[in-house]
Amino acid sequence: PQRSLVLVKPDGVARGLTGEILRRIEAKGYRLVALELRVATRELLEEHYAEHAGKPFFEPLVEFMSSGPVVAAVIEGHQVIPGFRSLAGATDPTAAAPGTIRGDLGRDWGLRVAQNLVHGSDAPESAAREIALWFPGL
Ligand code: GTP
Ligand code: MG
Repeated sequence: PQRSLVLVKPDGVARGLTGEILRRIEAKGYRLVALELRVATRELLEEHYAEHAGKPFFEPLVEFMSSGPVVAAVIEGHQVIPGFRSLAGATDPTAAAPGTIRGDLGRDWGLRVAQNLVHGSDAPESAAREIALWFPGL
């Protein structure tokens, strides 16, 4: 079955939403295959977000993502990559539909980078790359 890398971002962990987010993933029927709380290094995040290098939000994004602990998870299930993107909702939490993680639990705080609670891999190739990066032993 397909696997996806999910991150509960520092805003989600700081707000105590880790349990609620993992609950939604498990309630949907996806299986947790790896789970860890950790503070990501700049190096890891620059690799993780390599596709955004050079964009104006890159620096604030790396800073935000390293500002506190994240919960990294690998989740598994048929079509889990698009399935989790659908659970997460649109990138901009103001636009994200109610019923989604970002739509129900997120908002715009007027900061330099959108704090949108979760990350999920966007394609099989990025999932493979991100899982190898965050969980090299897996
Ligand atoms: P991730 O799951 O975190 O990868 O989010 P995404 O796939 O919905 O968005 P994307 O990969 O395009 O961007 C990564 C992160 O950068 C987003 O989650 C936002 O936090 C931030 N971001 C993306 N686009 C913009 C933008 O246009 N402006 C600002 N300020 N932040 C952005
Ligand atoms: Mg993305």
